Amino acid sequence: MYPSKILWRWLGAVGASLAGLAGLFIICQIILRLRSKLHPRPMPLRLAGVLRSSTRRRLLGSPEKIVERAGVAPGMHVLEIGPGTGYFTPALARCVAGQGKQGRVTCVEIQPEMIDMLRQHLNEEGIEHVEIVQGDAQKLSFSDESFDLIFLATVVGEVPDTQACFTTCARLLKPGGTLAVTEYVIDNDFLLPGAITRFAVKAGFQDAAYSGVPWWTYTARYRKPNAVPNIACVSSSRLYP
Ligand SMILES: C[S@@+](CC[C@H](N)C(=O)[O-])C[C@H]1O[C@@H](n2cnc3c(N)ncnc32)[C@H](O)[C@@H]1O
Repeated sequence: MYPSKILWRWLGAVGASLAGLAGLFIICQIILRLRSKLHPRPMPLRLAGVLRSSTRRRLLGSPEKIVERAGVAPGMHVLEIGPGTGYFTPALARCVAGQGKQGRVTCVEIQPEMIDMLRQHLNEEGIEHVEIVQGDAQKLSFSDESFDLIFLATVVGEVPDTQACFTTCARLLKPGGTLAVTEYVIDNDFLLPGAITRFAVKAGFQDAAYSGVPWWTYTARYRKPNAVPNIACVSSSRLYP
């Protein structure tokens, strides 16, 4: 047999194997993503190590960049929902305390083991003033209008009742406050901007703005409208002189 024929056969075999592997990968991804959609649940603890890995940092972007993209500013009181092991938390804490301002970060995380890892990471980073609460994004008991900005990164798809979560966020934000949602396609629970916007609009948010790349990683921001005048608060003598 001619050497060129052997080469072609060899290339064909390699190509077929690669195509097979790619097909298998796609099928596994479809199964995993369908399972996540049908049964949303918190990220398994055995995968916690990937959250602060250097590969994730390269693919997703630095926490500082995403915190800036979300619109976090010095002096704000920020609620971070689902911080996991704290990839974003130190950047959030440093940003709100910038320029000598007294901003604050509160974290709500559902898994106690994640909270332990988050505390350890914050200790290592020398960050002390972060309040950490164990709780469920679907039913948070903070007072109304407590926060300037609510930050969710790669969390929304893990919350079974996303609408309840967004409606709660609308209650917890001050008028004019921001809901910032970051999504990342490599995450099995990835949601496209359109899906996030539908939940946000139904919860009463306005002025959607997007940055990043919709099919890769993006941050969507929404604004809670300023208070609508409440007719019931106007005295009856002014309404009916
Ligand atoms: C994929 S991790 C992302 C962690 C972090 N935001 C990041 O991007 O590095 C999602 C985190 O959200 C938490 N989580 C999932 N459902 C939650 C819920 N209903 N309430 C609060 N936290 C939740 C999980 O336990 C997990 O730590």
